[in-house]
Amino acid sequence: MASAWSLERNQLLVGAFVHSKTREELEVLEDAAVAVDKGGKIVGVQTGCETSAAAKQQLLGRLGWSEADVDLIACKPGQFFFPGFIDTHVHAPQYPNVGIFGKTTVLDWLQKYTFPLEASLKDLAKARRVYTACVRRTLAHGTTTAAYFATIDVAATNLLADLCLGLGQRALIGRVCMDTPGICPDYYRDESAEESLRATLETIAHVKRIDADYEIVSPILTPRFAPSCSGPSMLGLADLHRRQGLPIQTHISEHADDVKLATDLFPESGSYAKIYDDHGLLTAKTILAHAVHLTEGEATLVAARGAKVAHCPCSNACLTSGEARVRWLWDRGIDVGLGTDMSGGYSPSVLEAARQAALVSRYVAMPVPSGDARERCKLSVDEVLYLATRGGAEVVGLAHKVGGFEVGMHWDAQLVELNLVSQDGGEGAADKEEEDGFRDGGNVDVFGWETWEERVTKWLYNGDDRNTKKVWVKGRLVHSRP
Ligand code: GUN
Ligand code: FE
Repeated sequence: MASAWSLERNQLLVGAFVHSKTREELEVLEDAAVAVDKGGKIVGVQTGCETSAAAKQQLLGRLGWSEADVDLIACKPGQFFFPGFIDTHVHAPQYPNVGIFGKTTVLDWLQKYTFPLEASLKDLAKARRVYTACVRRTLAHGTTTAAYFATIDVAATNLLADLCLGLGQRALIGRVCMDTPGICPDYYRDESAEESLRATLETIAHVKRIDADYEIVSPILTPRFAPSCSGPSMLGLADLHRRQGLPIQTHISEHADDVKLATDLFPESGSYAKIYDDHGLLTAKTILAHAVHLTEGEATLVAARGAKVAHCPCSNACLTSGEARVRWLWDRGIDVGLGTDMSGGYSPSVLEAARQAALVSRYVAMPVPSGDARERCKLSVDEVLYLATRGGAEVVGLAHKVGGFEVGMHWDAQLVELNLVSQDGGEGAADKEEEDGFRDGGNVDVFGWETWEERVTKWLYNGDDRNTKKVWVKGRLVHSRP
């Protein structure tokens, strides 16, 4: 299967574009135009015009394109383009369990809910149903890139890669490695470190076969978490990382019990982060999920290695793991993105994760004495949307391709629509909405007097998949709703 990514026509997107300029600042490009070529790359951005029509004409002229030769996609009132979301940590096989966690914490949650479900996905018909639904649902929520944990089963994991490629979601595909008896149940465990590595190589070969240049799907080495992995299996994965340059994903310091278990199993390392470092897995291409209970010394080590953190606020609340301190991580020089950690988290939506990140940062702030230190704990709307896009892109190693709207980046984007309440209001407005047929901005009403910042804020706090009208990955339309 060669890359399915040659588009038939160039595209011209016209209207308002919102993306992160810096961590602190969302930039709004109003009355702008973006040109996307047949390879799905942004080849021109036109700003500074009085109207969208002028931006369109200027850009066409600049590129020597004629209007007849492009597909034109123009914002309607209440709409804007936003970068696709990056989910830096998500478990595709756990999708059927969203919301089902009772009062468990992570270690008993794994045994009670998670391992049985994951093991059952060696049934490929079941895996196909679950993975298809998961990829469709996350695309519908605007997730254009996902770093997936699959299961230990090679065939089912390879199927997830096939489905992501077919449905058009950029994905890092991780066959889960877990070989420690006593922690991993007998019914769901790699037989040995050798077997774990062999199975991992099979998935890497498969992904290479279906997407030779790793354009849309790519493999990621996935030691589940230190307690589930033997020393030799981690050392083997580290060797693979060094030889093939592949990224790594795992969990770290999620819950106090998790920290105790890991450090009891590897007493010679002395800390969770040091376990990974001692086994060659703490690298600039490593994604560490959670990082709730990192110590100062561990943060220094993580920063020194350049490893990144997937912040999973929804999951950390559901499983009462704790509150990760994003500002504290940033202050120590660690890159952070967002993970839904579905189904530790109940929602497949990165917008929900961003909202939860904003709320959790306020819980982090509350015990801090009032003053600058407390205020700094709180994350702004701009900051959590940075986490959801550019921050995530850095975490998954794709910041040069996705997360913003610059020339040379890929068109991984979503068209967001808010419900613009008409001037006349009342009954007449309802009729007009029917006539127009596009005024279905879901749960978020705007009145037209809001600033851009206020509109985006309303989307963050009240929006959902109804607001995401179209989704593109590398220029290809992969989801749309009326
Ligand atoms: N630690 C080890 N495995 C898992 C998992 O699947 N989810 C979460 N949240 N934590 C884990
Ligand atoms: Fe997880």
